[in-house]
Amino acid sequence: MEQNARLYDDLEKILVTREEIARAVRELGRRITEDYAGKSPVVIGILKGAVVFYSDLIREIDLPLQTEFMSVSSYGSATKSTGVVQIRLDLKLDVMGRDLLIVEDIVDSGMTLHYLKEHLASRGAASIRIATLLDKPARRRVDLKADYHCFTIPDEFVVGYGLDYAERYRNLPDIGVLSPRIYQGED
Ligand code: IMP
Ligand code: MG
Repeated sequence: MEQNARLYDDLEKILVTREEIARAVRELGRRITEDYAGKSPVVIGILKGAVVFYSDLIREIDLPLQTEFMSVSSYGSATKSTGVVQIRLDLKLDVMGRDLLIVEDIVDSGMTLHYLKEHLASRGAASIRIATLLDKPARRRVDLKADYHCFTIPDEFVVGYGLDYAERYRNLPDIGVLSPRIYQGED
C-alpha cells in the first residue's frame, strides 16, 4: 500500500474506501443544502473524531452556514463508552432560535449524542438534527436516530478518516477495521 503504509499494517481490512466516502459526503451535502434551503444553520462539529468528515462536508453544502465546535468526552475504555458524558468545550454562541446541525463521526451506543441533544435543546434551539458519517445500530443503548448518515456499519471497531484508537489512526484516508491484536488485553 502506498501512503501511510505503516498505519495500514494495523488494519484487519478496509471497510469504506476514500472514493466511497467522497461520494457519500457529496450526496449528503446536496441533501442538507436542499433540506435547509433559505436557512443559515449552525453546523457543530464534535471534536476530534468528526474533524475530517466535517471539513469535507461543509465544503459540499451551499448555504450561508456558521461553523462551531464542541468537545465532549464519554468515560470508558478506548473502545467502549460508559455513557457518562462531560462537555469539555462548550459553544459560546447563543443558540436560541437557531437551526443546529450536529456533525459526528459515529453513533455507537448513542449516549453521547442523546446527552448532547438534550443539552442543546434546553437552550432554545429552533431545531436540532444530527449528521453522522457512520452508524453502528447493533450497539445502540438509547433511542437515538441520526437524521443523516453516510454508512451503516457492523459491530466492529473502526478507525481512520478522523476516527481513532487511543488517539491514533485519525489521519488514515480510508476507514478500516482495526486488528483486534492492537487492543487485546483492554478491559
Ligand atoms: P456513543 O457510544 O454513541 O456515545 O459514541 C461515543 C464515541 O465513541 C464516538 O463519538 C466515537 O468517538 C467513539 N466510537 C464509537 N465506536 C467507535 C469506533 O468503532 N471507532 C472509533 N471510535 C468509536
Ligand atoms: Mg473517539
